[in-house]
Amino acid sequence: MKSGRIGIGLLGLGIVGSAVAEALATNAAYAARAGAHLELRGALVRDRQRQRSARLRDLALTTDADALLDDPAVAIIVELMGGEEPAYTYLRRALAAGKHVVTANKEVIAKYGGELSALAAVNNVALRYEASVGGGIPLIAVLQRDFLANEISNVAAIINGTTNYILTSMAKDGIDFAEALAQAQHLGYAEADPRNDIEGIDAAYKLAILAGLAFRTPVHVADVFHEGITGLRARDFRYASELGYAVKLLAIAKRTPAGIQARVHPALVQQDEPLAKVDGVFNAIQIEGDLSGAVMIQGRGAGPGPTASAVIADILEVSRNLREGRTPLAAISGASAVPVPLVPMQELRTRYYVRMSMADRPGVLARVAQVLGEEGISIASMIQKEVDEDAGSAEVVIMTHHAVERAFQRAIARVADLDTVPEVGTFVRVMEKV
Ligand code: NAP
Ligand code: HSE
Repeated sequence: MKSGRIGIGLLGLGIVGSAVAEALATNAAYAARAGAHLELRGALVRDRQRQRSARLRDLALTTDADALLDDPAVAIIVELMGGEEPAYTYLRRALAAGKHVVTANKEVIAKYGGELSALAAVNNVALRYEASVGGGIPLIAVLQRDFLANEISNVAAIINGTTNYILTSMAKDGIDFAEALAQAQHLGYAEADPRNDIEGIDAAYKLAILAGLAFRTPVHVADVFHEGITGLRARDFRYASELGYAVKLLAIAKRTPAGIQARVHPALVQQDEPLAKVDGVFNAIQIEGDLSGAVMIQGRGAGPGPTASAVIADILEVSRNLREGRTPLAAISGASAVPVPLVPMQELRTRYYVRMSMADRPGVLARVAQVLGEEGISIASMIQKEVDEDAGSAEVVIMTHHAVERAFQRAIARVADLDTVPEVGTFVRVMEKV
């Protein structure tokens, strides 16, 4: 490090990388906050011919990662490429070479965060990943520091901006799924492969990170149940609203006597719950600590500006520590703790909304109710919705009392086998009040 300068190597110059590079290149105030001039040494890209912002014309582009990873003048590697490989390998190399790392990569942190944190500690460097969850919302540092005095029992969150944008557009603006997704992509919210968003995978990565920090135990992403939003239809939003609910993609992590429950799926959220009012690209996280009580943090969960805000905050903090010769504090994580068992999804106990069509004639509904009853599922309410007179069928929405997931799934499979039930449509779990 030349005196007064800190070299930064940027891996990735896409939606987030460009916003970070532009801000670093234009905001003169950062030098005072970093305690040094931040020198962007270059950016790794896949395609050097791709058109970039005119404001980045002076930035050196390379397709050779070694040019940055092996540059002795680079003190901080900022990884904004996304995906598991080659990002994971580059981060390992950077940490092993004694470079500090800032990343927004939830996939790599969810899968290898424990190992990378240990590597950072051994090499006495920082690994910061504030932007990996919740975009511009301060969350990682909050869990690592501000909740340290608490035993956290519950985290309930909306942590995917793309799906929340889609669900809000479908529910409130009557926009169809494909158009809402295209808008989210255009606004820079979606992952390079948007299936990660709509299938709940991105939220599962984020929940694994949050749950690991909240419960101070390793939470493997493979143990996080996830279900996306593609099974929802426009009428589910209508029916849910009539019943007093909003539909949200929730990420829930809960400490129970049997272990930790971690799940991502669409949920019916009572309209008077704070999470029901979180719309568009906004994310929100409710955390329940034994001393703090319930805390809710809300903000923009995706997009270039909010994400750059979190990335640059990490860069400034690392830089200031570097300038002042402070050793990076090893973050308190679950990496070294005794793992707490994860409770299988089949053991979840909750209430359900289920929409199905059935033959519109006497005895059919009774037979469905009988099958549910045989599996121990009690009906809380039932509404007959639209009737298709030509097909001789009716659409029915059933709300259940609490039931065990295993029994509910078995019951639904049996109902779907009935000749008189042409379709079991969507089922949605109901959010319990925190
Ligand atoms: P993006 O627009 O797809 O940008 C990815 C960048 O990485 C591009 O510049 C691409 O090069 C480069 N790249 C990808 N693979 C590469 C490879 N193998 N070799 C060299 N360069 C490669 O992605 P993004 O939306 O900015 O997201 C970046 C990261 O931030 C991801 O981890 C994402 O999950 C995370 N994140 C995104 C948001 C958001 O709102 N977008 C919010 C929070 C976190 P080219 O430019 O040549 O294609
Ligand atoms: N694709 C992610 C989202 C980006 O929509 O939330 C922010 O992590």
